Amino acid sequence: MIRYLTLPVHRSESIGGNYCLLAVRDAGLAALCRPGMFFELKSGAAGQDRRLFKPVSIYKVQSDEIAFLIKVLGPGTQALQVLEPGAPLKLLGPLGNAFQLVKDSRVLLVSGGVGYPPLAYLRDKLDASNEFTFLHGGNCRDDVFPCDDVWTVDGSSGRQGLVTEGAVQLIRDKGINVVYSCGPLPMLKALAQIVGPILHYVSLEAYMACGVGVCHGCAVPVGEGYQRVCKEGPVFDASLIRWGEL
Ligand SMILES: Cc1cc2nc3c(=O)[nH]c(=O)nc-3n(C[C@H](O)[C@H](O)[C@H](O)COP(=O)(O)OP(=O)(O)OC[C@H]3O[C@@H](n4cnc5c(N)ncnc54)[C@H](O)[C@@H]3O)c2cc1C
Ligand code: FES
Repeated sequence: MIRYLTLPVHRSESIGGNYCLLAVRDAGLAALCRPGMFFELKSGAAGQDRRLFKPVSIYKVQSDEIAFLIKVLGPGTQALQVLEPGAPLKLLGPLGNAFQLVKDSRVLLVSGGVGYPPLAYLRDKLDASNEFTFLHGGNCRDDVFPCDDVWTVDGSSGRQGLVTEGAVQLIRDKGINVVYSCGPLPMLKALAQIVGPILHYVSLEAYMACGVGVCHGCAVPVGEGYQRVCKEGPVFDASLIRWGEL
């Protein structure tokens, strides 16, 4: 069930670099959340009415608190960053599908940049019968978050290079049989090639207008046709995506 509501910000924290954490509390809404889903968020502060909603993944759900980890890029995310506790946040969601949760598997999670929040939430919810390795990559130390193995392009934290380099060896050494990924398109394309026939669930990002399946602006080539990232996605079976057309 999708809900549209305005809630007061419960927590608002700057967490270094260009990132901030926003959290709201609502027990009913928290109960609807699943890893992979996202919300459309917009500041409800006076003077912000004309801003577009921005799609943001669910990062953490603890009891009745729903948290978002946001990289501040342009006007929409800047308006979210300045919200103080108590300020109104407009939410539409939870939207999209969710990751399939596997059991008894050797799981690799690979995220890049703002692909981190949905995989961190997934990591919390995956069954303990799985073995996990969580790789995360970013441009520099500001883009680094807790995981098993960090890669940065400039080498300022963890290992220097692209996170996909780490995936190659791990898949071979650990006999990985399920991969979950989220990040920038070039990373996801490269990873899909590396992963090959292994079961691979990928969460795609797309520019979104309506966010609820009406405008078809977020359609991507899947199977024999097109599917909407906001409605049938954002999580897809990577083997069904026509990567060459993206
Ligand atoms: C399903 C989904 C989940 C997302 N989850 C998160 C999240 O958890 N945390 C987070 O920080 N961000 C997330 N994003 C990305 C976030 O929605 C955009 O960064 C945000 O909309 C930028 O808005 P803006 O007004 O601040 O900047 P804009 O002015 O709209 O854009 C600033 C810059 O970012 C680029 N950009 C904007 N949107 C995207 C996009 N979707 N993909 C690639 N580049 C983009 C623009 O080209 C421009 O260069 C998600 C996007 C999607 C589709
Ligand atoms: S953003 Fe409109 S259909 Fe997905």
